[in-house]
Amino acid sequence: MDSSPNQDAEFFYPSQQIVDNAIIQDYEALYKQSVDDPQAFWAARANELEWAKKWDKVLDDSKAPFYKWFTGGVTNIITNAIDRHLKTAHKNKLALIWEGEPGDSRTFSYFALNREVSKFANVLKSLGVRKGDIVTIYMPRIPEMVFAMLACAKIGAGHSVVYGGFSVEALAARIEDAQSKVLITADGGWMRGKIVNLKEIADEAMSRQPTIESCIVVKRTGQSIYMEAGRDYWYHDLISLPIASPNCPTEPMDAEDMLFILYTSGTTGRPKGIIHTHGGYMVYTYTTFKYVFDIKEEDRYWCAADPGWITGHSYIVYAPLINGATSFMYEGAPNHPYPNRWWQMVEKYGISILYTSPTAIRGLMRFGNAWANRHDLSSLRLLGSVGEPINPEAWRWYYTVIGKERCPIMDTWWQTETGGFMISPLPVTPLKPGSATKPLFGIIADVVNEEGHPVAAGEEGYLVIKAPWPGMLRTIYKDPERYQTQYWGKYGNMYQAGDSARKDKDGYIWVIGRIDDVIKVSGYRLGTAEVESALVSHPSVAEAAAIGLPHELKGNAIYCYVILKAGVDKNDKLAEELRQHVGHEIGPIARPEHITFVDSLPKTRSGKIMRRVLKARAQGLPEGDLSTLEE
Ligand code: WTA
Repeated sequence: MDSSPNQDAEFFYPSQQIVDNAIIQDYEALYKQSVDDPQAFWAARANELEWAKKWDKVLDDSKAPFYKWFTGGVTNIITNAIDRHLKTAHKNKLALIWEGEPGDSRTFSYFALNREVSKFANVLKSLGVRKGDIVTIYMPRIPEMVFAMLACAKIGAGHSVVYGGFSVEALAARIEDAQSKVLITADGGWMRGKIVNLKEIADEAMSRQPTIESCIVVKRTGQSIYMEAGRDYWYHDLISLPIASPNCPTEPMDAEDMLFILYTSGTTGRPKGIIHTHGGYMVYTYTTFKYVFDIKEEDRYWCAADPGWITGHSYIVYAPLINGATSFMYEGAPNHPYPNRWWQMVEKYGISILYTSPTAIRGLMRFGNAWANRHDLSSLRLLGSVGEPINPEAWRWYYTVIGKERCPIMDTWWQTETGGFMISPLPVTPLKPGSATKPLFGIIADVVNEEGHPVAAGEEGYLVIKAPWPGMLRTIYKDPERYQTQYWGKYGNMYQAGDSARKDKDGYIWVIGRIDDVIKVSGYRLGTAEVESALVSHPSVAEAAAIGLPHELKGNAIYCYVILKAGVDKNDKLAEELRQHVGHEIGPIARPEHITFVDSLPKTRSGKIMRRVLKARAQGLPEGDLSTLEE
């Protein structure tokens, strides 16, 4: 994989037609205005949306880094994502077009979406869900997943979505942290022609974490599953009850009230519950989506991520709806039954904006050009990339074979914590393959050294954000101290992203990758600590270390070093068993690429595993400063 940034790369310029039709034609001017007076900029964006009561203060920084936005303001993200569209011509516009992996399809106008969400919101209320509760959602990519998220938001409950590719322990740990009483799941989902047994996994997770009182199950596949009397209910039964009226008032929320919690991997220990709010997150996702994807009334937009990750929360569910856009969602695998599945759907539905990950692009690229060339992709207008650095080779393929050199690629850098895009081109930005280009409006991004001083052009350093923004995380659930130390501890007044980057002579930012113990596998975010604790939960394992190493297709792959308990035999069968065990506990995406049995691990004198040394050794690179290594 060619991942070395070519900072002198030639520019790719957008066509005159794209420039002429773009919402923002002069990035520099608006950027300057936005950072000179960010509060005025954000107030103007917030004023484009509906509020039951306007805010008293745009930004309250009196308790930094616990920043608050639009304090005193009252709204609900649903007021803007659904309710306001019912009063306009958007009422009968399609909000969601969905296709299942077997080829079934369903569509929902804004009117229909409101009906489904309201009915389900009433069901949740009747099950005792109240404002401030956290409901856990563990579902395949089907419309009911979107309804469930929106229904929670509508009644003021927080949702905690657990990605459907996660497994027992990952789900149990998240249920436990959130103390959820209600779980929404399905009898399964289709993936690569097979059923993912979500309910079976949910059953095992519920037996480990018995906080769940009601489990709502959507019938997706029809396969027979276990239903526990008094705990498990079918979704279709509940929404047929008289209680499930299609009228449900939207709960007025304080701008700073929690909208959702989304668990993500951090440097150490358990996943962190990242908190986002109704007010700031709404304004931020609305604005970034509108400007970066330059959204037009007639667009058909497809974000191919899963709603279970932040990309899906912000840019499948909330931002497109707030903007009154039409979104497409697909349930299954990109190459099922054949590698033309995606291109076939682009043609069939007339997709105009496609947003996906470098891993997906590399995966489809490997099947060659003919699969894409079979289809009419002329509806495409813009492309997007997210989740990991895009290598120039994949960028060029995406640009040439999919976009026919007509469609600019929006390489968006951001994080679960940032809520929305932070560094990204606009359609008018001259592009360099592999660079996310420049910070968006109101965002001051820089690359600094250990002391917090900007590094010279082209030099590697820490990626930081120098001012607060409305979409930022507010805290880590139940752990404000960790929020403060993790993101603001190093420099005090700058947000530390956890990525390394370079800024070139043109001010373009090239993100290199994580500098902590987070591994991006196929764009999915995992922590070494989670993989290690899954390994040591196996009876044969005494100690384990996990690292990420470069992988041609996945970006990074997980490699593990394991010390077995005394008397346990090292063999290939056990290595395979351990890989499966990690898959069962966390999920197939966390299954290690390779397991090596060792007798010791490099550690500091204080007992911390030196993953950096393991990584260097595995790649045959210099091991660097070993002064803290225990003999
Ligand atoms: C990485 C995903 C390079 C980065 C939205 C970040 C990227 C982490 C890009 C956050 C990009 C995301 N170029 N790297 N365009 N987008 N990343 O929380 O390392 O799942 O810190 O959010 O993904 O991952 P997360």
